Amino acid sequence: MVIAPQKRVLILYATMTKNTEKVATWFADTFRDYGWDVNLYRITSQKKLVEDQESLYFDDYDCVFLGSPIVGGSPLQSVIKALSLGAGGGLEKEVQDKIDAHEKDAAAGAKKPGILWRRNQAPYAGVLNPEDSIPLGVVFTTYGGGFFGSSEAMATLEQLKLYLQTNNVHVVGKFACGGKETGPAGFPVGEKPPKFFRPGPKDPNAPKADVQDAVYYRMGDGSLKPGSYFFHYDCDSKPGPREEAKAKAFAADLIEDYFMSYNNKTMKDWSELISIS
Ligand SMILES: Cc1cc2nc3c(=O)[nH]c(=O)nc-3n(C[C@H](O)[C@H](O)[C@H](O)COP(=O)(O)O)c2cc1C
Repeated sequence: MVIAPQKRVLILYATMTKNTEKVATWFADTFRDYGWDVNLYRITSQKKLVEDQESLYFDDYDCVFLGSPIVGGSPLQSVIKALSLGAGGGLEKEVQDKIDAHEKDAAAGAKKPGILWRRNQAPYAGVLNPEDSIPLGVVFTTYGGGFFGSSEAMATLEQLKLYLQTNNVHVVGKFACGGKETGPAGFPVGEKPPKFFRPGPKDPNAPKADVQDAVYYRMGDGSLKPGSYFFHYDCDSKPGPREEAKAKAFAADLIEDYFMSYNNKTMKDWSELISIS
């Protein structure tokens, strides 16, 4: 009998209020159940990433996850800074600095070295290194989606996918689910929201929106449930047990379908696993 060597997964995520962390942890639990070595890593600052550089090379993993909540339609700044090729202000500033400095010695503006995701770099900038290993990747998000739901998650998922692809990771999975928000859609289901949203402590005396009271729906057992003022039903309780079940089933499918082949080779990766709600 031949036992396959242990596999390794890196689960990178950023979070503000811990919704995305919950999903990342459910993924991690599932990988551990399947005997994988898991590095569950929260992206905070560039400084911390550089300190932890040795454990963060994609070369050392069979699978890489990247997750972020959505803020104003984009991933968190910490993710943009860590994985984009200079977005989040840095690259634009560099262009402006070059214009301002005219022909000033470029070395004067030399940047501190940032995080590297691969051990060996491509022969020149702007291309992938053909010698790299190509781990499989998954991108994931939690989000409010109050306006019109899952389409609001697509731009962020695609952005995260690009970040992994430009580091030679082949993305085969996408996962998105609702996450309780502190913004305009952050009200218990059925509660009429205020007329104007103001960030900060919620004012119980704020005037309510000029729309009808929520209708109720009778369930099979006779109980009543209020209708929702926003796209995701009861977003306030997400991610909850249903999202946990989805996240764990998603990770289990990924592990079994792509990585548990008869010859320990990764299955052909021409397909995608998608769980978006
Ligand atoms: C300042 C702010 C801006 C947000 N912007 C969006 C948005 O543009 N689209 C969206 O769908 N959700 C938005 N949300 C909701 C969050 O994406 C959602 O609550 C998410 O689950 C938070 O994840 P976290 O707990 O991991 O930080 C926003 C939340 C906050 C606090």
